[in-house]
Amino acid sequence: MTRYEQLAQSLRRQIQNQIWLPGDKLPSLRESCRQSGLSLMTVLQAYQLLESQGLVVARPQSGYYVAPDPAPLPDSSRTLHPSEQVGINDAIFDILQAAKDPAIVPFGSAFPDATLFPQPRLARSLASAVRRMSPFSAVANLPPGNEDLRRSIAQRYAQQGMEVAPDDIVITSGAMESLGLSLQAVTEPGDWVAIESPAFYGVLQAIERRQLKAVAIPTDVQTGIDLAALADALARYPIRACWFMSNFQNPLGASMPRDKKQRLVAMLAEHGVALIEDDVYHELYFGTERPAPLRAFDPQGSTVLHCASFSKSLAPGFRVGWVAAGPHAARIQRLQLMSTLSASVPTQLALADYLHQSGYEAHLRRLRRQLELRQVAMYRGIQQAFPEEVSISRPQGGYFLWLTLGKGRDARTLYRQALARGISIAPGHMFTAGDQFRDCIRLNSSFVWDARHQQAIETLGALVRGL
Ligand SMILES: Cc1ncc(COP(=O)(O)O)c(C=O)c1O
Repeated sequence: MTRYEQLAQSLRRQIQNQIWLPGDKLPSLRESCRQSGLSLMTVLQAYQLLESQGLVVARPQSGYYVAPDPAPLPDSSRTLHPSEQVGINDAIFDILQAAKDPAIVPFGSAFPDATLFPQPRLARSLASAVRRMSPFSAVANLPPGNEDLRRSIAQRYAQQGMEVAPDDIVITSGAMESLGLSLQAVTEPGDWVAIESPAFYGVLQAIERRQLKAVAIPTDVQTGIDLAALADALARYPIRACWFMSNFQNPLGASMPRDKKQRLVAMLAEHGVALIEDDVYHELYFGTERPAPLRAFDPQGSTVLHCASFSKSLAPGFRVGWVAAGPHAARIQRLQLMSTLSASVPTQLALADYLHQSGYEAHLRRLRRQLELRQVAMYRGIQQAFPEEVSISRPQGGYFLWLTLGKGRDARTLYRQALARGISIAPGHMFTAGDQFRDCIRLNSSFVWDARHQQAIETLGALVRGL
C-alpha cells in the first residue's frame, strides 16, 4: 500500500470510529503534513482519494470536511483493498524460474504434471497438420483464427447449452493473451478494475502493464468473491471491468455456487460493467457435472468475455487459447492484429485435427480422475506431516491446495528454507499487490504421489513446525 493510501485508510478508520463526525472539519493539509511527516502532495492525494469515495468533501478556501452523509463503510471483515498502482513483486520471477529446474520438486509451479497429457497423440496431430498445411495458411488463419478450431470450440459451448457462434470466438496464444486483449478491449489506462484477493499473479501483471487501478475484492476459499463487498466497490469506484474466476480459482481453488454466479452476472449487467471470466481450469472438475461458467448466465454474451485455453487440459506447450467475446470480438481481433498478429498456426491446426478425432473426452476423464486421486493423496500427506492448526483447502477440481499456516508463520521464510532443500512452493504474497497472505502457501497437487514427493511434503511439514 502506498503512503497516501495508508493515510487515507487511517482517516477512513477515524471516520468509521466516529472520531470525526459528519460535517466536522478535518485537520488542514498543513497540519496533517506536520503530524504525519508526509509531503503536501501525499496528504493531498489521500484527501482526494477519500473525496472520490464520497467520504469527505472539499470546501474552497476552507478545507476538507467529513461528508454530511458519508458513503457507507464496508465492515472490516470485507475490507476492500484499493490500489492505484499495482507493482508486481520481483519475487514472482525468481519463484517461476525456480519451478523450471528439474532437480527441484515443483510444488510452486502453476503447470500441471507434463506426463498427464496425450503427447504421442498430439505429436501425430501436429505432424499431420504441418504436412497438410497450405502455403497460404498463415494468412488464412489470421484473427479470429482457424475456423475448424473455432467451430469445435463453439460445439463444446453448445453441448453445455450456450449459444456461442464461431465468429464470436477469437483464438489466441493461450488464455494469457485472451485475458490481456479482453482487458485492453474494455478499459482505458487509469480505469478501475475489480479483481479477486488473492488473485492469480497474471492478473496483477496485466493490470500493471495497462496502468489500471485495482480494487481487490475479498475472496472466500470455498465460494469465491464476496458479492456484498463487490456491491460496495461498485458504489464507491467507477469500476469499468471485473476479472474473476468462478471455477477452481487460482490460487484458492474456490468455486462459486450456481446461484451466486447468476447474481454476480445480473449485478454487473445492471451496472454495465464488463466481466472478464478466466476459466482455464473449467475442464478439471472432479464431480459428475461440468460446472457452468459465468458466461452461461449471460445468454447474449454482452457482459461476459469468456477466456479459456487448452493449456491446463490438453496441450500445455501449444499456447492455444481463446475468448468468446460476443460484441467485443471485432475489437479484440484488431488489437491482436496490432500486437502479436495471430496465434501460432501449426498448433491451431493440430488442435483442430485432434478435436475432430474422438479421444478428447476419454483423455479428460482420465485426467480428472488422476488429478482427484493425486489431490487426495497429497491432502492426506499434508494432514499427517503438518501441524494440526494448518488449514488446507479442498477444491472440487483443478490442482492447487491453499494452506493457511497460522499467524506468525512467514511463508517467505518457508519459501527460502524449502528452496534450500530442493522444494519450490508458491508463497501467498505472490497473489496480492498488498501485504496480505503472508502466512499462506499454494501447492501444486498434480504430481504423482511417490516417495520423492511424499518426502518433500514431510520436509515441508517439519520446516513449518520450526517456523
Ligand atoms: C488462473 C490462470 N489464468 C490464466 C493462465 C494462463 O493460461 P495459458 O497458459 O493458457 O496462457 C493461468 C496459468 O497458470 C492461470 O493459472
